[in-house]
Amino acid sequence: MSEKYYFYPRWIRVWHTLNAILCLMLIVSGISLQYSDTDAPVINFQAAIGIHNFAGVALTFNYMIFFVGNLLTENGRNYLMRRKGLRDRLWKQLRYYAYGFFRGEKAPFPVGKERKFNPLQQISYVIVMYAAIPLLFLTGWALLFPEFILKKFLGFSGIFLSAQLHIAMGFLVSVFLVIHLYVSTMGRTPLSNFRSMIDGWQEAH
Ligand code: HEM
Repeated sequence: MSEKYYFYPRWIRVWHTLNAILCLMLIVSGISLQYSDTDAPVINFQAAIGIHNFAGVALTFNYMIFFVGNLLTENGRNYLMRRKGLRDRLWKQLRYYAYGFFRGEKAPFPVGKERKFNPLQQISYVIVMYAAIPLLFLTGWALLFPEFILKKFLGFSGIFLSAQLHIAMGFLVSVFLVIHLYVSTMGRTPLSNFRSMIDGWQEAH
């Protein structure tokens, strides 16, 4: 029997579950707003606005659990990346996901006491959690209170720039989610990572 680590304490699981539900609500209502057709809406336009605003505000508060939790607990260490040799490590992991995994090779960065995330997980989580999500909710709040946005920035309308950034980050997080779900099935068994997010325990592999 391999060693087990309690990698996902309850606060992470609570934050992550709420985060996943809110992101799904935001994606569905966001797509509905973007491609709204009053004759055949995915979700009624007014309802989509309500859902999107509520979930965006809730996501901001929920993000504080993640941010403060990572500041105050050991979990934050998993988000610190070493720059030296990063490109090689990313390449090794990418090659494994695209090829080695299907040939039954051993993972180049196995899960262990000192390693919760492989380099690709680590960089994608850092980009999404410390850049994309904060930019999403900051631009979201700006669009909720447009009177506070700069009228003009570098010759462009402030509202236009906020909306573009908001949509770009929304798209990035949506693409991340699809890849995240797929890669999460590439654990010790296809369901083992999902089980870890439910009971908190991860087996070495
Ligand atoms: C239906 C939606 C989702 C499912 C089923 C899911 C599944 C998982 C699973 C199985 C893990 C554990 C594997 C691992 O350590 O990588 C995980 C971790 C993680 N997920 Fe998700 N995820 C979902 C949505 C999201 C979203 C929307 C985000 C961010 C926008 C996200 C960010 C993360 C992060 C940052 C971790 C690592 C947390 C930590 O331990 O510090 N997930 N997710």
